[in-house]
Amino acid sequence: MTRISYGCGAVSLFLATSMLIAGQEPKAPAQKTPDQARQEMIAKFLAIGDAPDPEAVKRGQALFVASCGFCHGSNANGGNSGPDLVRSVLVLHDKGTGVEIRPVILNGRPDKGMPKFPFTDAQVKDIAQFLLSRSQAAANRANYQIGNIVTGDAKAGEAYFNSNCAGCHSAAGDLAHIASKFDPVALQARFLYPHTADRFPGQPGPPPDPREQKTVTVTMKNGVTVNGRLLRLDDFTAVLITEQGKRQTFSLDGPEAPQIAVHDPLAEHVRLLKQYSNADMHNILAFLETLK
Ligand code: HEC
Ligand code: HEC
Repeated sequence: MTRISYGCGAVSLFLATSMLIAGQEPKAPAQKTPDQARQEMIAKFLAIGDAPDPEAVKRGQALFVASCGFCHGSNANGGNSGPDLVRSVLVLHDKGTGVEIRPVILNGRPDKGMPKFPFTDAQVKDIAQFLLSRSQAAANRANYQIGNIVTGDAKAGEAYFNSNCAGCHSAAGDLAHIASKFDPVALQARFLYPHTADRFPGQPGPPPDPREQKTVTVTMKNGVTVNGRLLRLDDFTAVLITEQGKRQTFSLDGPEAPQIAVHDPLAEHVRLLKQYSNADMHNILAFLETLK
């Protein structure tokens, strides 16, 4: 992946109430226990994916404990030499599909100390389902605080806003009355993670907000560049709509592979997500709540 420079690590939302795409909701079984119903409600609220398949979770857990637990902790909460995967943005984005996790498992991160594992797609999917179960359990715990989330200090939030957000937003401009448009939970989701697009590449969904559209510059070996809106990017191909409105696919395999530079307007939000302290989040929300 060294050819590809991301603005943001190809991350998507895990918090966005208002953005659920019809047709991607979990299929409702005939009878649900209150617990299951709650789990589903929370998973939907956080948009972190359907409830995982319990059998896959079991298989994935066994694999994980044996191969990954040594570094990441057997509950995936982080261990001696591997990061917490439950709160990993990459894992949250994966939503139990294996799509995001697969390249990490198959290639490892040798320079950072993670070896590669020759797992099958089915094994990767099982691990992804296990990690999804872990992040949903964590989300479930976080949800207990939602009852009263506007507990921050609005003045401190305003100061934080002025130094970190005001370059792109204005309380009197684009964010005026934002607190009248969303309830506190939804508003928290919107500022923590405003992505609405790029959730399941290739699947139908609402068109991206133009302000969120990722763009890309492809630089060919001969120096020619092509700019456009990014439709899809993986290890093998980049697909974009050029400025002339043409759909173009670039192979990223082989010696003629072009350079790809992605610009994500929400990259700063992704970065901020890693920077907020718990107090920051509450303070920002308290400030945004004053924008009625
Ligand atoms: C020898 C230690 C080690 C083992 C074993 C290991 N990892 Fe890792 N893993 C790491 C380290 C270190 C990183 C952080 C790399 C970095 O900073 O980019 C990492 C990163 C990751 C990431 C990316 C997290 C992120 O947010 O970018 C995923 C996903 C992951 N590992 C999954 C696994 C899985 C699944 C297994 C088992 C099949 C596994 N790892 C085994 C050490 C390990
Ligand atoms: C580098 C530019 C940039 C910075 C810095 C930035 N944002 Fe954003 N923000 C965006 C873009 C782009 C969007 C998506 C388009 C939109 O919805 O306005 C967005 C969306 C939002 C939304 C959702 C607005 C809506 O109408 O749904 C909120 C709320 C928000 N940001 C709050 C913040 C806060 C709070 C900070 C600072 C902690 C911040 N942003 C920092 C660029 C930025």
